[in-house]
Amino acid sequence: MDRRQQEQTIVNLIRALGTSLKNRRLYPPSHPLVRSAVDKCFSDILLFFTERQELALAISDGTLVFEGVPIFNLTSSLDLFIARLSAIGIPAVVFEKGLAPEDIERFILFLHETKEEGLSSSDVQERIEKMGVTHIRVKPPMDEEEDDYSLARNTYDNAVNAVVLLMQEIRMGRIPSGAESERVVKDITGMLKRNRDAIMALTLIKNFDEYTYNHSVNVAVISLAMADALSLSPQEKAEVGVAGLLHDIGKTQLALDLIRKPGSLTFQEFEEIKKHPEEGFVLLGKMPHIRPTSAYMVREHHLRYDRKGYPVLGPDYPVNPHSQIIAVSDCYDAITTMRAYQKAKQPLEALEIMGKLSGKSLDANILAVLKSVMGSYPIGTMVRLNSMEVGVITGVGPAGMGPIKIQVLVDRQGNPLPRPEEVELVEIAATTPHTRRSILGTVNPLLYPEAQKGALLSTPPS
Ligand SMILES: [Fe+2]
Ligand SMILES: [Fe+2]
Repeated sequence: MDRRQQEQTIVNLIRALGTSLKNRRLYPPSHPLVRSAVDKCFSDILLFFTERQELALAISDGTLVFEGVPIFNLTSSLDLFIARLSAIGIPAVVFEKGLAPEDIERFILFLHETKEEGLSSSDVQERIEKMGVTHIRVKPPMDEEEDDYSLARNTYDNAVNAVVLLMQEIRMGRIPSGAESERVVKDITGMLKRNRDAIMALTLIKNFDEYTYNHSVNVAVISLAMADALSLSPQEKAEVGVAGLLHDIGKTQLALDLIRKPGSLTFQEFEEIKKHPEEGFVLLGKMPHIRPTSAYMVREHHLRYDRKGYPVLGPDYPVNPHSQIIAVSDCYDAITTMRAYQKAKQPLEALEIMGKLSGKSLDANILAVLKSVMGSYPIGTMVRLNSMEVGVITGVGPAGMGPIKIQVLVDRQGNPLPRPEEVELVEIAATTPHTRRSILGTVNPLLYPEAQKGALLSTPPS
């Protein structure tokens, strides 16, 4: 099973557990409505036991987590089961191989009968064992305690893997359905809602070897954050996210040497590169799960606001109103990434450069949205504090308006700290007596190469 099938199976499983719990309130355990939901649930779990010894589902802040990655795919009708687990105080359920339908039945009975809240895992474990449950554990393994940063990390890595597989498939001449891309976008959307800073900070991981893959995910994340700021509908958001994720998919049709070529391109080579938006449009058109709107956005991501880009589409061509979201985030991610032929720019510098493109290649209004999303000190900006320490911005809160979080990397004497220290500024300006630290201004990260190396999410805040 791939991740999408696994998630779908888990969603079905939770649905069956919820139904069985709901029906248990109304009917005796032998009633067919209770029985059939338990049997359904049992057969779903069995699918997992062909590949693994156990199936562990954790609950973190009301979200279901499977193998470290949150599943945001659940509809509200599935909340009953999770709500019961959370209320009772169960942080994770582990179904072990050897499980029998009776285990599920008794566990449901336990959830149904238990009225106390906030029980400890060991207490719950003891009680279910007494009820005869043998292959369900509620104690999470020690290392499964997840915080938002590791959830975001797993969501991000999962998205990168999905892009790698998708591009491989296309290079081999197959056409993927696009369902996996939809799922990835749902996960990123959910993660942005849960903790925007945590996932936005990951867009700063600029892995040079994997440029296209990370870049695709970064453009999806930044585009979705902008779609949020624009209050687009859930469907529009999904379309923008998928377009961001797949905007450069047409590059699979170009020679690898050309895509990886460092330095400047010849006229002929650039003419080749210019084909990728149209190639992407054609590919997306063949993928049954991709909406036409996403395909159009992919086609138009290099068209430029003044329509002087490529492909040439004529003055009457109706440009999709959201294509500029992709163009703007594409530009931002490219400028802030170090390439063989270009030094990475600091976020504020990137925004300044982009300001000069306003009204030409980029739409001023959409650029303003990016600026508001990034806040006055965008995530990833290296700053000096009034304490003379140097750190990197790791959080700006929703819509760039929240408390600023900084990882301090260099102490007041200029020595790199062995482990970054996370601090939170109550306000940017030191106007309140409570604010111990404030930002003096940005610093050039090249002055602190050692600190920068260990910076950011290689060491998530503890
Ligand atoms: Fe592109
Ligand atoms: Fe791109």
